[in-house]
This record gives sequence, structure tokens and C-alpha cells, in this order.
Amino acid sequence: MTSEERDKDFVWHPFTPDQPWRDPAHRLPVIVRGEGPYLWDEEGKRYWDGNSAIWTNLHGHRHPRLVAAVRDQLERIDHVSFLGLTHPWGAELAERLSRIAAGESGPRYRTFFSDDGATAIEAAVKIVWQFFQQNGQPQRDLFLCLAESYHGDTVGAMSVAQSRFHRLFEPLRFPSVPIQAPACYRCPFNRAAAGRKDARQGRRCSWECVRVLEEALDRHGHRLAALWIEPKVQAAAGMWMHPEGYLRELDRLCRERGIFWIADEVFTGFGRLGSWLACEREGVFPDLLCLAKGLTGGMMPLAATLVREEIYAGFTGGKNRAFLHGHSYTANPIGCAAALASLAVFEEEEVFERIARHAELLSTLSQRFWRHPRVGDVRQEGLVLAVELVERQADRSSFPKEREVGFRVCERARAYGLLTRPIGDVLVLVPPFCVSADDLAGMVGALERALWEELP
Ligand SMILES: Cc1ncc(COP(=O)(O)O)c(C=O)c1O
Repeated sequence: MTSEERDKDFVWHPFTPDQPWRDPAHRLPVIVRGEGPYLWDEEGKRYWDGNSAIWTNLHGHRHPRLVAAVRDQLERIDHVSFLGLTHPWGAELAERLSRIAAGESGPRYRTFFSDDGATAIEAAVKIVWQFFQQNGQPQRDLFLCLAESYHGDTVGAMSVAQSRFHRLFEPLRFPSVPIQAPACYRCPFNRAAAGRKDARQGRRCSWECVRVLEEALDRHGHRLAALWIEPKVQAAAGMWMHPEGYLRELDRLCRERGIFWIADEVFTGFGRLGSWLACEREGVFPDLLCLAKGLTGGMMPLAATLVREEIYAGFTGGKNRAFLHGHSYTANPIGCAAALASLAVFEEEEVFERIARHAELLSTLSQRFWRHPRVGDVRQEGLVLAVELVERQADRSSFPKEREVGFRVCERARAYGLLTRPIGDVLVLVPPFCVSADDLAGMVGALERALWEELP
């Protein structure tokens, strides 16, 4: 039995329909090796990892420094409980994360470790809930969240989001209040011409989305536990990108009213947008901050929920005030060692300079997509590129879902050596930071060629 046959008989994959797999003509790539920006299948075919192992990988696969750190750690320890015990790597990582989150002038943060993006979110939901329950504001029981926000697939994470992926699970979700997302391309107040390269050059609105936010804060303020946001880029929505200034306005409005806001930087954290954190780009400091994916450079599952020290103070002062939450693999030492090694790579290899150079190149290369008549929008933040396909540019209308246009373009791109995954009809490139200029040109070229072939 081949691995592919075994897989098709015994494995259940996330967000993966069964039906195409039953087609004998459908080939499932069996990946057996990774190095730098490349993956190899068992037949020896090489691919670019165009989605950085579902947005986790930063420095490429098997970066020697991370490999050495994990090997070294295995010589010392595998795993140990974090219930009332600690270890040097967890302690150091928490301090480093606090410094990254606070920058030069921000507050001190305390870290609660967990395993994945969704677990970082669950912890934040429960921290905020317990904080208000035991600190005299039990009426604060509502969360505010942006349209099409996504924070992971566990029940709490689904509840504080508004994702199309979760409609089926509506009865399981506790209620939260949705508000308009500041996503310019599909904004009802967008006055820019559609399908034009210059459509995104500056907002042509009067910050209606900020007014919507302000009204919601005023209407629900006394009951609000917190506001959630994926700052700057809502990844799973289809790489919806927020205009410069929105986050600052959000921070100001929440601070004026004493309302907590939570930054989900599971996707945007650790250089993806060209800075350590998306929040840094607008000089704001959230009350809580969720990190995962790139935290270990994509090597191990590890997540962190950072809270301002004032919030942590709400859990001190007695045994019955402890946070009632935990996971078996909290602060796994191998994960922590990988995370520390990843941070060291940032310091030693001028990673931010490389991201800036590549982001500029990607911006130049991606202009070619505008030539295609079915491209409605080309948007980019750092090393995140999104190309949104539409049936008609003029009214930004989408293709019928059944046509699976985005999926088919990406399937075709695989033949040209690019592995990536669309979000609906939004084509996405999220390359590892270690790519060369030639790799980037190759990835964009493969996607463009696949697009013209699929939609001539
Ligand atoms: C912004 C954001 N938050 C949370 C998650 C959930 O992370 P995980 O898949 O590690 O649970 C994701 C995953 O894509 C994400 O993009």
C-alpha cells in the first residue's frame, strides 16, 4: 500500500472535502522533505511552499539554528508539567515576548502559554471572562468582533468570530456582537473605482467604519467584556487588509471608554507584515495579545496569550482567584527552545531587512496581475499577497461558488511547482522569509500562468 492509498483509507484532513479524493485521477502530494522555501514529494518533485506550512513557517524549513535548538533540547528534557513548575526556556521566552509586545514604550505583559492559535484565543476569552466575574463587573459578558473575523475552530474561538466557516455551528456559539470590518475592497462606502490599479491608493471615504465602531462601543459599552481584532490583516476572511489609521482609532475609542481590546496576531505576528507585530505598525498596545503560528518559526506547536500586568493583577490575592484553565503541553520546553532560536535568527540574520526588500519586489512583481480582466483587487502587506478574482470587475461580483475558481487556479499552479491554498476566490501567497528573489519571481510566475490558463 502506498502512503497515498493509506492516507485515503485512514486519514481525515482539516477543511478538506472527501469527494475530489475519491477520484482516482486526483493525486495527493505526499511530502517527504522540506528545506528552506522548498518541499519535495516522494517522487522527487520540488515545490515552493507558497503558504509557509499554513502560515507558520518564517525562516524556511529546517533552519539549521532551529534544528540545533530542538536537538539540543532533546538532550536535556522532553516535556514537563507547567503546573506549579517552571523551566528556563519558558521563563526566558515570556520575558522576550513581553519586550517584543511592549517595544520601547508599552506596558509590561505576562504570558500564558498554550499550543495552537485557537487555544491562545480560548485562554484569552476565559481570562477576560474570569477577570470581570471576580473583579466586580459580572455584567460584562459580551464580545464585539469584526465581520468575517476568524480566530480558530474551537467553540470559544468560533463564538468571538464571524466567519463563514462557522455558520453551521451557530447554535453552539455564545452570542457576540458583529460590526463592519474596515476592509476597503468590499466596503459598502468604498467610493474608489473597482478593478483599477489605483483603487487602493488612499481611502476615499469618511471613516464610516470608525463611526460604526464608535456607535457599537457606545451602545454596548456597559456590557462589553472586550473587542476582538485581527490587526491590519484578516487572514481567513480572504486577506482583508485594513487602512492605515483604523487600529489607532480603535485603540483611542476603547481607551476613552475603558474597554479592553484583544489583538489576535496569530497570523500577523513575527515579521509577516514587516514588523514584529501588526500593532507596532500603528504604535498601539492591546490589552491582550494572542500569538501562535510563527512563534516557533513554524517548527513546533506553541502559543501564547499575553495580558497587561493590570489584568494579571485581577487574578492575584488568594487561592480561589487563580485562572481556572490549562493544557497538558503548556510551555513545552522543545517548543520554547525553537521559539527562542527563531527570535535569535531575527537578530542574527537581518530578517527584517530581507522582508522589506522582498516585500518591495513582491509589490513590483504582483502588478502583473492587474492585467487579468478577472482580477478585482491586488493587495499586499509585507510578505502577504492576495489576488481577488471576480466575475465582473465593475460591480466586484463574485464567481458562483460551485465554480471553485480559486481552488482550480491553485491546483493548476501545483504543476508549475507552487503549493498554495486559496481562500475562496482569493489567491494567496505567504512565502517564507528565506526565499530568494528568483524564488519569489518563480512563485508569482507560477500563479500568474495558472490564472491565465484557468481563466483565459
Ligand atoms: C488570525 C488567526 N487566529 C487564529 C487562528 C487559529 O490558529 P490555529 O489554526 O493554530 O488554531 C488562525 C488560523 O489560521 C488565524 O489566522
